[in-house]
Amino acid sequence: MAVPVIDFSKVNGEERAKTMAEIANGCEEWGFFQLTNHGIPEELLERVKKVCSECYKLEREEIFKNSTPVKLLNEIVDKKSGEKLENIDWEDVFILMDDNEWPTGTPGFRETMAEYRSELKKLAEKIMEVMDENLGLPKGYIKKAFNDGDGDNAFFGTKVSHYPPCPNPELVANGLRAHTDAGGVILLFQDDEVGGLQMLKDGQWIDVQPLRNAIVINTGDQIEVLSNGRYKSCWHRVQVKTDGNRRSIASFYNPSMQATICPAPQLLEKENQQVEITYPKFVFADYMSVYADQKFLPKEPRFQALRAM
Ligand SMILES: [Fe+2]
Repeated sequence: MAVPVIDFSKVNGEERAKTMAEIANGCEEWGFFQLTNHGIPEELLERVKKVCSECYKLEREEIFKNSTPVKLLNEIVDKKSGEKLENIDWEDVFILMDDNEWPTGTPGFRETMAEYRSELKKLAEKIMEVMDENLGLPKGYIKKAFNDGDGDNAFFGTKVSHYPPCPNPELVANGLRAHTDAGGVILLFQDDEVGGLQMLKDGQWIDVQPLRNAIVINTGDQIEVLSNGRYKSCWHRVQVKTDGNRRSIASFYNPSMQATICPAPQLLEKENQQVEITYPKFVFADYMSVYADQKFLPKEPRFQALRAM
């Protein structure tokens, strides 16, 4: 069993119907799928890999060596206590947004990542339009739901992570602990070679196989709510490795903090019969305040907490 790989260029050709159905299946049955021929220039992707790896070497490696997980692991090894490092991620991470501070010490990093983010945002919007159509919603519905009013104020963030090799993997539970994503549509550009990402499918952890220059798509909790449970957000995690420094660049198209999220009314009627509403209506900022403390826990209590608000 492998995460579906879909040729996105075929969404505009003779094989459109088949491709739309493949994406629908990826959303409904998996919550994860990989896109090839997604239209992001290879030349840009190669530059992204280069500047992110250089940025790690030049600006992050020393920080990671002095980070909490490394210090805690060293303590465990020194004490020989047999303890395991559980509630922490073996990860170096920073986030790029439109209005925060970006690394400045790596030549070409800012220009390349700004260009990459603008391409990825366009790709996210195309994917949301495919989801609109597959769900039977008007074109632009999801984008509009994520933007508060008519503005362009949805959140678009890019998380640049590295999972450095771990000298004692038997003592570290996770590179990144299992969770579902809080937001909307996630577009991941993962390492070509170093794996480690797994998703939970029918109770089984499955590798999200590295595929050169593919973009991995997964859907977050807000797509689950908006689709009234048709597109479920899926658990995923990153395992630590002894060799290779896994690079992982995840871009998030999320609702604006002020956006009100609820199941699309069109999905609550079926042949004039009312469908059961299984999700609450809430403001995304309230969801995020619940998620902040419960990210690594099951999502259902988050929905319950919002229902009670
Ligand atoms: Fe995630």
